[in-house]
Amino acid sequence: MTMDTIVSLCKRRGFIFQSSEIYGGAGSCWDYGPLGVELKNNIKRVWWRDTVHLRPDMVGLDASILMHPTVWKASGHVDHFSDPMVDCRACRRRFRADKLDETPWVHFCPTKTDARFDVPAGEPCRHCGARRTLCPECGKGELTPPRQFNLMFKTYTGPVEEDAALTYLRPETAQGIFVNFDNVLQSMRLKLPFGIAQIGKSFRNEITPGNFIFRTREFEQMEIEFFVNPNETIDGRPADEVWHERWIEERLAWYHRYGIRPENLRVREHEKEELAHYAKRTADIEYRFPIGWSELEGIANRTDYDLKQHARFSGKSLTYFDEERKTHVVPYVIEPSAGADRSLLAFLVDAYREEEVRGEKRVVLRLHQDIAPTKIAVLPLLKKRGEIVATAHEIRSLLARWWVTVYDDTAAIGRLYRRQDEVGTPYCVTVDVQTVGDVDKGEAGDQRVTIRDRDSMQQIRVPIAELPTVFRQLLDGGTWQQVGGRYGIGG
Ligand code: GLY
Repeated sequence: MTMDTIVSLCKRRGFIFQSSEIYGGAGSCWDYGPLGVELKNNIKRVWWRDTVHLRPDMVGLDASILMHPTVWKASGHVDHFSDPMVDCRACRRRFRADKLDETPWVHFCPTKTDARFDVPAGEPCRHCGARRTLCPECGKGELTPPRQFNLMFKTYTGPVEEDAALTYLRPETAQGIFVNFDNVLQSMRLKLPFGIAQIGKSFRNEITPGNFIFRTREFEQMEIEFFVNPNETIDGRPADEVWHERWIEERLAWYHRYGIRPENLRVREHEKEELAHYAKRTADIEYRFPIGWSELEGIANRTDYDLKQHARFSGKSLTYFDEERKTHVVPYVIEPSAGADRSLLAFLVDAYREEEVRGEKRVVLRLHQDIAPTKIAVLPLLKKRGEIVATAHEIRSLLARWWVTVYDDTAAIGRLYRRQDEVGTPYCVTVDVQTVGDVDKGEAGDQRVTIRDRDSMQQIRVPIAELPTVFRQLLDGGTWQQVGGRYGIGG
């Protein structure tokens, strides 16, 4: 399966559209459609539930995107958050210097006439031995020496565009947590170790965005800053190092829990020269995307770097009073930083299957039911029968109080099932003639409907009155075999 397969499914089925498409599109900007927004909200909701609500040692925060500009001086982003860039003197395109060797390049070889060669990544020209000093796009222009390019988007607060009003769109949500450390500590009377979690948009003026929603300039982060007492040890080891390992395990388990196959996840340690300016150690959780193994989440030990920097620049104390040792300490922080958009892409890619069913191809998204955009689809077997349609609408309204439930009658039943499979709906409910009976023939309906399970395609027949109870079980931890078994599973 390629990225194009996913991009095409996303567009066709209302998950993700290119931004401003009617104007030719806005580069690397994407809009979440009706199913995409449900999927993304569900991912954020389960992350929040598992991270904040289910843990006694976590609280949440929602800080603003625009912050005091000194935040970014203190955090080091003004000085360090940059990539080395080179420009083509001919076509003026700009490239990341450290990525130049990773892609093949076009070379107009001076030793040949009309010779335009595609030189493989990292290799010199076979004819003249030239290395890439020329533009990888046009192949003709000389590249400038590398210069640092800051990735933060600049903007101005207030009506005047002058340096005094300069600020930035936040490049990470993390700083909103650090500058609120004391507010949260005091108002919630917390004891170390504890964490603050936040979900929100961040912005980076990436030079080489791309690969669909994998790398975009506007993206959504799900970040945790977990504060640890650096004077403490756990089993003789520094507490920050132990908590770092615990969070790597916890976050890996989280992706497994919502259906990502373990063989598609791995942990990669950052090399020393790769570490961000604030990090003592960083481990990435990587996913095997169609573009290859790439970062899904970074888990960094930021030490006391940020709190100390903000204390220095703001003149405010950002410490914690260690009652046991009767001393003020600056906590260390472990930061699991996940991308909501990347997680969504990984969940989609991992759930995508093409199967053969009775000689026909079935595309199915085997999404975990907690993140599936629609939980239940109610389908009338015959849309010409008024009682069937009316009953299906009533069932949809009933179930929609608790779960995202849709009604669809725009095709024959086999096709309707396939459509729901393709968007990952775990259950379909079908209303048929037997449900409503036939007044003309004097036959009463049995008021039962068929529930079909997406993954096994098995069916059970259930009284309408019992649907809320059955779905409460099915969608809240019960298995199809347990719940379905009570009604007699059919094929
Ligand atoms: N806060 C870490 C990051 O945004 O990469």
